[in-house]
Amino acid sequence: MKIKSDWILPDLKAAQKRTKKAVPYINHFELEDYVRYIGKGKKYYISTFGCQANQRDSETLAGILDAMNFEPSESPEKADVVLINTCAVRQNAEEKVLGEVGNLKRVYRENKDLVIGVCGCMAQEEKLVHTIIDKYPQVRLMFGTHNIQNLPNMLYKVMYQHERLIQIYSKEGEVYENLPVHRFGNNKAWVNIMYGCDKFCTYCIVPYTRGKERSRTMDEILKEVNELKNDGYKEITLLGQNVNAYGKDLSADYDFATLLAKVAETEIPRIRFMTSHPWDFSDAMIDAIAKYDNIMPFVHLPMQSGDTDVLKKMGRRYTAESYKTLFDKIKNRIPGVAISTDIIVGFPNETDEQFQHTLDMVNYCKFDNCFTFIYSPREGTPAAKMEDTIPMEEKSKRLAILNQTWNKYALEKNKQYEGKVVKVLVDGPSKKDPSTFTGYSPENKIINFTGENIKAGDFVDVYIERAKTFSMDGKALCYNKNK
Ligand code: SAH
Ligand code: SF4
Ligand code: F3S
Repeated sequence: MKIKSDWILPDLKAAQKRTKKAVPYINHFELEDYVRYIGKGKKYYISTFGCQANQRDSETLAGILDAMNFEPSESPEKADVVLINTCAVRQNAEEKVLGEVGNLKRVYRENKDLVIGVCGCMAQEEKLVHTIIDKYPQVRLMFGTHNIQNLPNMLYKVMYQHERLIQIYSKEGEVYENLPVHRFGNNKAWVNIMYGCDKFCTYCIVPYTRGKERSRTMDEILKEVNELKNDGYKEITLLGQNVNAYGKDLSADYDFATLLAKVAETEIPRIRFMTSHPWDFSDAMIDAIAKYDNIMPFVHLPMQSGDTDVLKKMGRRYTAESYKTLFDKIKNRIPGVAISTDIIVGFPNETDEQFQHTLDMVNYCKFDNCFTFIYSPREGTPAAKMEDTIPMEEKSKRLAILNQTWNKYALEKNKQYEGKVVKVLVDGPSKKDPSTFTGYSPENKIINFTGENIKAGDFVDVYIERAKTFSMDGKALCYNKNK
């Protein structure tokens, strides 16, 4: 397939570079007249894969499309523009995306004006972009994580100049403020506090797909949180790949602990944050979580492995011992805190004994929830070049053992809630049964419960009748709409 001269293709080497150059902060977004009305009478559909950062990006994409007078569509079949916002963190995430792009071929055959766009983290990968260029002609637009703000102009070119367009910058990135946003939730919202990652864990593609760590200013974040509060939002989640690093790139005298306190003082009812790295998790952060009732007692603390040598090869900057010490400190200082984690099994050449150390840590920590993965080599990362003699069959076996182990503790933990009352923020009625509702407890437990006169956004006291591994069942006692 011929590469067009005006295409900008990804470059992992360039994406890896980190300089000391100041981050550009861009404060205004303006739609020029030639793009303002191109969505009139047209519809869009966005399909999102991956983490919360991607979900928040999709809300920006939707906001830009709304500003261009597009309307949202219920399905890709009825849409004029379909965007697939992708994740590159593991091979299976990529396969799902390619499956979806493959399915859209049928829709494209029936509507040759349809614009199918692939964006997000996969678009930052060299090999993947070539695969799409060669094998998926139905994809007419590809753009990267640093190109979102150019969507109007890119769409114009594809729709009116009938070009196939690829625009993927590989760079450290900017901070854009005031891009339009169409929030998908009415009660819960994502708030970016920083972008990118500088940790370069040896297995991970994120620092290449998302650029360098760059923080938003505290004023901008607080302005957004106050707006959300005034709009009636009940819960916000502060987002960053590694929130402990918040503020370190700014010449300011505040850090994540300061931000947590300031956000808590807005009195928005519920505050969560994602993700905190076990390295550099300060005492001041723990104090802030413990001090403010509206910071939820829940910490996602990715462990990745319970073996110090494996952690070293992963570039994680902590040991099994120091993880344990931090874990204990969080447990002891934050009453009722729930802790979840991420674990990778089958990192290159992980021995039986090293895997056993991971199980030992799970037996020690008894996590409330675990996200477990088989290591997936990502091209361009250091771990992908490491020799690996462990067969996939063995890795799958380890994953099954690990899952059995943590599931046992998750159930045990949930059992402790039986006969107790928890405050649930209601997401809405269950899809299967309109007399059952779903929501989350402060500790981030999924609660299904029965009750009457309840709607999304209410706070309900729920009596827990039965604990399961991944959720709990109960009944509503009373409810207060605002707290
Ligand atoms: N910034 C977050 C993680 C983002 S990726 C943090 O550092 O905690 C989410 C999870 O995906 C990681 O915690 C890790 O467990 C997993 N992951 C990342 N790269 C992976 C890979 N190459 N193979 C398997 N799992 C991976
Ligand atoms: Fe990936 Fe490590 Fe950064 Fe998390 S901290 S996004 S695992 S490089
Ligand atoms: Fe995936 Fe990109 Fe998030 S790789 S996990 S969508 S930052």
